Amino acid sequence: MALEDGKEPGITIRLIQNRPLPLRLLQFFLLFLVLGLGVSIISMYTFRYFGIQNVTGVGRSNIFLPCFEAPNDLENWIRPPSNLLHKMNDTELFWRASFVPRIKEYPYRRVPKIAFMFLTKGPLPLAPLWERFFKGHEGLYSIYVHSLPSYAGNYTPSSVFYKRQIPSQVVEWGRMSMCDAERRLLANALLDISNEWFILVSEACIPLHNFSIIYRYISRSRYSFMGSFDEDGPYGRGRYNWNMQPEVTLAQWRKGSQWFEVNRRLAVNIIEDTTYYPKFRDFCQPACYVDEHYFPTMLSIQAPRLLANRTLTWTDWSRGGAHPATFGKADITEQFFKKMFEGQSCTYNNQPTTVCYLFARKFAPSALDPLLSLASKVFGF
Ligand SMILES: *[C@@H]1O[C@H](CO)[C@@H](O)[C@H](O)[C@H]1NC(C)=O
Ligand SMILES: *[C@@H]1O[C@H](CO)[C@@H](O)[C@H](O)[C@H]1NC(C)=O
Ligand SMILES: *[C@@H]1O[C@H](CO)[C@@H](O)[C@H](O)[C@H]1NC(C)=O
Repeated sequence: MALEDGKEPGITIRLIQNRPLPLRLLQFFLLFLVLGLGVSIISMYTFRYFGIQNVTGVGRSNIFLPCFEAPNDLENWIRPPSNLLHKMNDTELFWRASFVPRIKEYPYRRVPKIAFMFLTKGPLPLAPLWERFFKGHEGLYSIYVHSLPSYAGNYTPSSVFYKRQIPSQVVEWGRMSMCDAERRLLANALLDISNEWFILVSEACIPLHNFSIIYRYISRSRYSFMGSFDEDGPYGRGRYNWNMQPEVTLAQWRKGSQWFEVNRRLAVNIIEDTTYYPKFRDFCQPACYVDEHYFPTMLSIQAPRLLANRTLTWTDWSRGGAHPATFGKADITEQFFKKMFEGQSCTYNNQPTTVCYLFARKFAPSALDPLLSLASKVFGF
């Protein structure tokens, strides 16, 4: 019984009451408690006051509201992420990006956007041309830039490229890390529910028409523009590896340009893939250039009827070799583009057309000035 006594609450309190020092401590505690409560009540009242003022005044406050009540309305699901530099790794990002609504009709007026995904090493030397291309079409596009992680872009707040860099990783050209970067771009762009079409471009690409023409061409197409063809010889079927069976057979093997345009459904197909990914990672290594085979082959198996089987990006392979021609200052003339536009013939929504390419590559930084002076006459912007 005697050993238990000390643990009884009554005895503990009596002990404290008998000593003057702990009593003063208790008073201090009480004082702090009251003061703390007062301060927090006042600050809560002030924040709420400002929060409400913002809602009724300028618009919904992003600064104060989330601290006290998360806005749990539809807007919360529609609004694109305000900061592209999230902390998700690829596993987490792809999982999040694969969310697809099952009800196909949107309960609000959704304006579909084109996501322009820039795959670059570092700077975008042709940015001034793109800036002019995008000007006046806000709300119909979004921009994502995947550059080397070590590169920090220095775009001014007025630039369309300002804070559009996504978390990136090192890319080795012609290897799986290239497809990883493209999937990373797609996944980041999928986080904005308004993005409906996804275009991959590089720092050496230029638009060949104005935004209205390009938007109409892509939004009214029944098919996505993924280059995909069955090619004989060492650079086509010759790159097929029999270890890819049974997931990919020789007859299913496709080749196509790396520079694609896909719709939202195909973008999800690409980022959710775990069937074909390991096959291409393990059995398509240089001289099998995986970025020319992985997406064309897997989409031709999964959704052949959604593909136009051609790319929108003009490239000049006529000089031969492993790399296409690059055009600089001296090449950029009206005649050059006249020749490029005249040589076109393809099908669009099953009808013959002479507008086959919306973008072109590769252009050197020195091409910028002549391109800017020709743009309004030749490209219409
Ligand atoms: C991402 O993080 C999760 C949890 O820590 C881990 O299981 C997963 O392997 C990571 N993925 C990558 C690609 O690092
Ligand atoms: C694209 O090729 C696939 C076969 O891989 C075919 O089923 C599809 O009809 C083609 N698309 C068009 C628009 O011709
Ligand atoms: C875009 O180009 C087309 C054809 O060149 C032209 O008719 C149209 O006015 C241009 N649109 C804008 C917004 O400049």
